[in-house]
Amino acid sequence: MSLDGKAESFKARRKQFMTQIAPGATAILPSAPVAIRSGDVEFIYRQDSDFYYLTGFVEPESVAVFSPGHPDGEFAMFVRPRDRERETWTGRRAGIEGAMIDYGADKAYVIDELEKVLPRYLEKSERVHYPLGLNEKLDERVLKMVRWAQAMRPRLGVGPSVLIDPRDLIHEARLMKEEAELAAMRRAMEISGEAHRRAMMKARGGMKEWQIEAEVDYTFRSKGATGPSYPSIIASGPNAATLHYINNDREMRSGELLLIDAGAEYDFYAADITRTSPIGAKFTPLQRDLYQVVLDAQLSAIDVIKPGARFEDPHEAAVKVLVDGMRTLGILQGSADEIIEKGTYRRFYMHRTSHWLGMDVHDVGLYRVAGASRMLEPGMVLTVEPGLYIDREDDTVPESFCGIGIRIEDDVLVTADGHEVMTASTPKTIADVEAITAG
Ligand code: GLY
Ligand code: MN
Ligand code: MN
Repeated sequence: MSLDGKAESFKARRKQFMTQIAPGATAILPSAPVAIRSGDVEFIYRQDSDFYYLTGFVEPESVAVFSPGHPDGEFAMFVRPRDRERETWTGRRAGIEGAMIDYGADKAYVIDELEKVLPRYLEKSERVHYPLGLNEKLDERVLKMVRWAQAMRPRLGVGPSVLIDPRDLIHEARLMKEEAELAAMRRAMEISGEAHRRAMMKARGGMKEWQIEAEVDYTFRSKGATGPSYPSIIASGPNAATLHYINNDREMRSGELLLIDAGAEYDFYAADITRTSPIGAKFTPLQRDLYQVVLDAQLSAIDVIKPGARFEDPHEAAVKVLVDGMRTLGILQGSADEIIEKGTYRRFYMHRTSHWLGMDVHDVGLYRVAGASRMLEPGMVLTVEPGLYIDREDDTVPESFCGIGIRIEDDVLVTADGHEVMTASTPKTIADVEAITAG
């Protein structure tokens, strides 16, 4: 267990965070709680993204404390103790020595000493940064100590008078990706692209959707990804019109469309890619028409991404093209302005076009600032994922359109002079997709 040469970047992030909260503040961050799957079986543990971002520490039952200028050291960690017997069952722990030597803590304590030690930090702080609601058991313990330190304030002349959520600061930092973060994301995207190509190639009528999910999982794990960064959507035929379809248990038919929304997590960073392809065939003329509308919408949305553009701009660009396309195909009637103003297009396009992407698939960071759509800046990564979804029972469109769902999703980095489509190597033009599915 070590940080594989990444210790310096975690240290730099802590330094920036401490500068932002200084002086006279203590920040307390909890690790993610362990979650029970069923009975005595736990979900595979995944560290809280904010906690990992500042510590690189992956063990549960840990607390990180940041206290700029504190005489006992600015960065303290509370961790599980070394325990030979327990470690035989659940693996090696860093312990307090590891927390200091490998993870850069100035001081480390076993987690059971929290009540003994944390008050020493709190009693010297005017402001306490703590994210309420992540870990209710810890909330209770921390608040009790904060109340104690508050009660000491009259006698000591110092003590907490403000409780602040530290996530705003951490999330703003996470929104701007560093080179090392982009490298991990690129690897997640490369692996995901390979999974999409393999899935398109393998899909045939008569197979079950879960067989394709297995191909995706196989590619993720065999290339060193942790696994999917969110439950994979393998939606054939009419299932593609269900936005969060994850049952993945239908038998696929040749020539239907297959919507796959799947992205790997690599070294704590997510990819998020959707492709829609005909199963073992070329697109039918009708599928092709709809697909081209979504593709044109996606390209128009990507096209407007550059520093200074608004977060909303890609969405507005996509909606415009989708609405024009749906009018041309006879899916929507009336003027484009009216359709957009009344939002009647939402019957077929009911989600937004973009979200931030990073350690979390729907990553952190504000979308609106001071009441207005946020301006894009270099280093931000967002998805662009327009789609069209026509329910199998929709009686407002010609029957041939019913039961079709199409989405195309790429991950886009805002660069100094525009943008980079980080997932560009995953096939998406009609010719490139057909070369695989009907090759
Ligand atoms: N895969 C989740 C999303 O596209 O937002
Ligand atoms: Mn997405
Ligand atoms: Mn997605």
